Amino acid sequence: VPEAVAAIIPAAGMGSRLSAAAPPGPPKALRLLAGRTILQRSVDVLADEVDLIVVAAPADRLERLHFHRPGVRIVVVGGGATRQESVRNALGALSESVTHVLVHDAARALVPGAVVRRVLAALRDGARCVVPVVAVPDSVRGVTADGGTAPLDRAAIRLVQTPQGFTVDALRRGHAAARTELATDDATLVEATGETVTLVDGDPLAFKITHPLDLLLAEAVLGR
Ligand code: CTP
Ligand code: MG
Repeated sequence: VPEAVAAIIPAAGMGSRLSAAAPPGPPKALRLLAGRTILQRSVDVLADEVDLIVVAAPADRLERLHFHRPGVRIVVVGGGATRQESVRNALGALSESVTHVLVHDAARALVPGAVVRRVLAALRDGARCVVPVVAVPDSVRGVTADGGTAPLDRAAIRLVQTPQGFTVDALRRGHAAARTELATDDATLVEATGETVTLVDGDPLAFKITHPLDLLLAEAVLGR
């Protein structure tokens, strides 16, 4: 089967912001959320939409992680010290036949399939770099290191989610051209190489499980 569309799932983070106020547990993506791990939930959503999934997992957990879904090849590689390095490691495991790739934070475990399909539809329409976004509910201020602050127009701001979608060459070039290890998403790297970013509607359910309150929210959503 030609693996035309792949998904990379960076899942190697420790979840330090989640653990700060909670009892010590496994790395964030391997925490249980209503009976299934955060990572398993992200894999399950993407497995319905792509041909190949490459998970970048904590290096010391590799031999214990196995995923099986009919019709999808699922590969696990070791993650890196940064999200960016984890994605780069996963890029090295893509098959030659892959033309398009999604990159999805494992921590966005409740992402609706409809968001994934909107990103894929934009790629099918010819986009090379696709980002799902949502509006900002709060008022927003910009701050500077020297203590200055100024209001920002929230209507001009969007929050960036995943999965982000790319042609495989655009994503590879973005990572190859990166000059720091600090990128918190992939579109930032790809856009820096001159690519145009196409926005599609994200969804509040694609929120990133980051703080303890996010875990409670996810459990409540799943239990409702
Ligand atoms: N990630 C990764 N490799 C890293 C760091 C992060 O694969 N070295 C992944 C995380 O597993 C997560 C996604 O990138 O799915 C988004 O990162 P984030 O929410 O920041 O997760 P953590 O880095 O684990 O959390 P924290 O920053 O609070 O430690
Ligand atoms: Mg992090």
